[in-house]
Order: sequence, then structure tokens, then C-alpha cells
Amino acid sequence: MPSSFGNRTSGRAPKASGGLFRSLRLRGALLAALFAGEAVFGTGLFLEFREENAQATGLASRVQSVAAGLQTLLRKGVDAGNWAGLQTGVARLLGAEGGLSARMIGPDGLPLAQGGRDAAAPRDALQGLMPVAPGVLMGRLGSGRIVQFFQEVPGELAPLGSILVRARLDPPVWTGDLPFLAGGAAGLVFLLYGIFLAYSLRSTKAVVKTLRMVIQEEYWHRAPVSGCAEIRTIAAATNEALDSLEKASVRVQEAYIETALALTRTVEAKDRYTSGHSQRVARLGVEMGEWLGFDRDRLEMLHIGGMLHDIGKVAVPDAVLLKKGPLDDEEYEEMKKHPMAGDRILGVIPGLRDMADMARSHHERWDGKGYPLGVSGDAIPLEGRILAVADAFDAMATKRSYKPAMPVEEALRRIEKDAGTHFDPEIARLFVSMKRNGKGYKALRPEPGESEGLPAGRGRPGPVVDPAARV
Ligand SMILES: [Fe+2]
Repeated sequence: MPSSFGNRTSGRAPKASGGLFRSLRLRGALLAALFAGEAVFGTGLFLEFREENAQATGLASRVQSVAAGLQTLLRKGVDAGNWAGLQTGVARLLGAEGGLSARMIGPDGLPLAQGGRDAAAPRDALQGLMPVAPGVLMGRLGSGRIVQFFQEVPGELAPLGSILVRARLDPPVWTGDLPFLAGGAAGLVFLLYGIFLAYSLRSTKAVVKTLRMVIQEEYWHRAPVSGCAEIRTIAAATNEALDSLEKASVRVQEAYIETALALTRTVEAKDRYTSGHSQRVARLGVEMGEWLGFDRDRLEMLHIGGMLHDIGKVAVPDAVLLKKGPLDDEEYEEMKKHPMAGDRILGVIPGLRDMADMARSHHERWDGKGYPLGVSGDAIPLEGRILAVADAFDAMATKRSYKPAMPVEEALRRIEKDAGTHFDPEIARLFVSMKRNGKGYKALRPEPGESEGLPAGRGRPGPVVDPAARV
């Protein structure tokens, strides 16, 4: 008996160990970098703001002083009608106050005089204005910071014009681009942390999916050991628990199968004529399964199914089971209950569902005239159709209490005759060929240009079968 069946252990992931601290350090470093970047960024902005305000406050008084001089100049120029002297006066005032710019505008809006780098820009060109001192505002002009004073100069009858004075702040000395570099670095760390969390979330979903499959009794699935350290630890622990659960499940299945086999042996022990019947049916079934290309797991299931196919006979009274001679109708009806009884006995454990199907279906017929369900054709499980042929052959070719053993060739002829009615025609053809020639189904397919038939010595070489030794 195999140690296990249907034991699908693919996708096993390696155990995680020792990764907790590494992951904690990684996340700690990411968080520390994030906070440090934010702190540098915020501190830089604050210091820059404070320095600009200090500069602006110092410049405001100079701007106001120049503005007062320009007002006086404008009034004198208007009184004297000396417009030409205004430009000279503006240059003189700005020369005394380096770094400033100024513009004097006439009542018609045209400039009367101007000087300095920032004088030509419109009055409302500054962005992000904020007050610094009475009449003095600070704002951005291009990449620089500007302190600006604007005032209309009233006359006795009408405005004389307006004056605009500006002073450019020096860029912050100590910070430079540091705050923005720190801000960019903090943003990059934030992005990395987001990716880290997304990766961990995906791994968490994989573990949850595994646990949901466990709830559905899919013990073979394993969680991928990935994500952060805690999730890797959880995934590895889940996999270890599943290993134990799967082993326990297999042990339960094996124990149940052993019990079922013991029951089958008990049935066979009652009648010396049926002794060894289940082993022979299982062996013939596996031989057909091999020719059909079944994998190892399916062959193991077929072998166990063959061993247990008549387990339902434990429910048949001994008076019927051991009767010497043909059964009457009532006794036959009693005997026909054993496939469904076998289904009930084996079907209580989920892992044995396939064997239960074999036990239930081994007396179904290809034409639908079998029992217990009367299904036909492909609706009968393939393993059931295989066991039906093996079961019938062994029953015919061995001695029973109610009949002598039939010659092997005669049994094969009957199976040939009943192909397509009692038996699946292809399975029957495979079996007959296998017993006569040691050839399986694949060997029966004609070569190109060759007619259908059973050409001896052609096709896939099979075992040389001595029918007498096989039954
Ligand atoms: Fe049977």
C-alpha cells in the first residue's frame, strides 16, 4: 500500500528565519530618514523665512527713505517745470542707496525717470505679497525676493504722479538648496516606504488565500514566504502547520484505508472461492491504467479502488453472499445493493471520494443497463469502466461456488462480444489485446497505410503475458 496518495506538495516555500530584526532595522531606517528629511526641510524653510523677514525689515526703512526723497524730487520738478532734472535726481538718490531701484511715473502713466535693475517691471508683477512695514510689501519677482513701496503723490488740484521703489533681498546664505534636497529625499523615502507596504500587503493577501484554502480542506497549498519579516514568519508557521495537518490527514486516510482493506479481507475470507479477487482486479486495473498513461497518483488511487471495489459486500447477508448456486430475484436485488453501500462506506472521508466513485460504478454498464444508478457511456467514471472489465474477467476466469472457472480465451471472447454494450468498447479492446498480446491501446492504433486490427509484433512493445499466470 502506498504511503500516501494525492499528496501534492508542490509550491513548498522555504522557511523564514532571523529576518525579523533585519526588517525592523530596514523600516526603522526608512522612517528615520523620512523624519530627518522632513525635519531638515521644515527647519530650513523656517530659517529662510526668518532671515528674509529680517532682511526685509532692514530694507523697508531704506526704501521708505528713498521714497520720501523721490516725493520731494517730484514735487520740486513739477513746481519748477524741470522734468529733465528728475532722471538726474533719481540717479543721485539711488547712488546713495546701493542695491535699490526706483521709478517715477507721471500722471499720464508714462515713466518720468527710473533707475536700477528691477525698476522696469510692472508694479503688480510681484507674487505672494505680504506686508513688511507700513506701505512696504514683500513678494517674489522671478527667482528673487523683492521689497516694494508704491505711492501716488497728490497735488493741489490733481495727482502729480506716482513713485515705485524696490530693493532685492540677498538669497539665504546658509541654506541654499538644502531644504529642497532634503524635501526631495524625504519624498523618495516616502515612496520607498509605500512600495514596501504594498509588497507586504500583497504577501498578506497570499497568506490569507492559503488559510482560506485550508478552510476548504485543500491542505496541499502552501503560502509563499515573502513580504516583511512578520509576514514571512506567519507564512512559514502556516506552512509548517499545514505540513503537520497534511501528514495527519494522510495518516487518517491510510488508517481508514487499512480498516477498509481489513473489511474487504473479511468478506473474501468468508468464501474461499473469492479469495484474492480484489487483489487481482486491482492489479489488472493498474495494468490498464499504465497503458492509458495514468500518472503515479492516479495509478495508486486505481489500485486502492480495485482493492476496495467490493467492500460494500460487508452489508450483504451471508445467506446471499455465500449461497452455492444462482441467486433468485430477491437475493439478486440484495446483492445489487453492494456498490452503493461501498460508496457510503468510502465516501465519508473527502480524500477517498474517488475510490467511493469506483466502488459505486464498477457494475454500471456502457449501455446504461447496469446498476446502481443506470448511467451510461462517459457518465461512468473511467476507473469504474476499467474495474468493470477487470471484475467481470476475474469472475469468469476463476472458480466460484456456483460455477467452474471459464477458460481465459472464452472469457476474453465474451468481453469482446460485450464491448459497446456491457463494457466501454475501447477499454474492452485494450484489455483483450493486453491479455492476448501484451499490447496496450496505443499499440492497437494502425500505422499510416495500415488497416485496423491487431498486427502481432507491431507498435509499442509490451510485456509478454502468460494469461494463465495473470489471472
Ligand atoms: Fe462487485
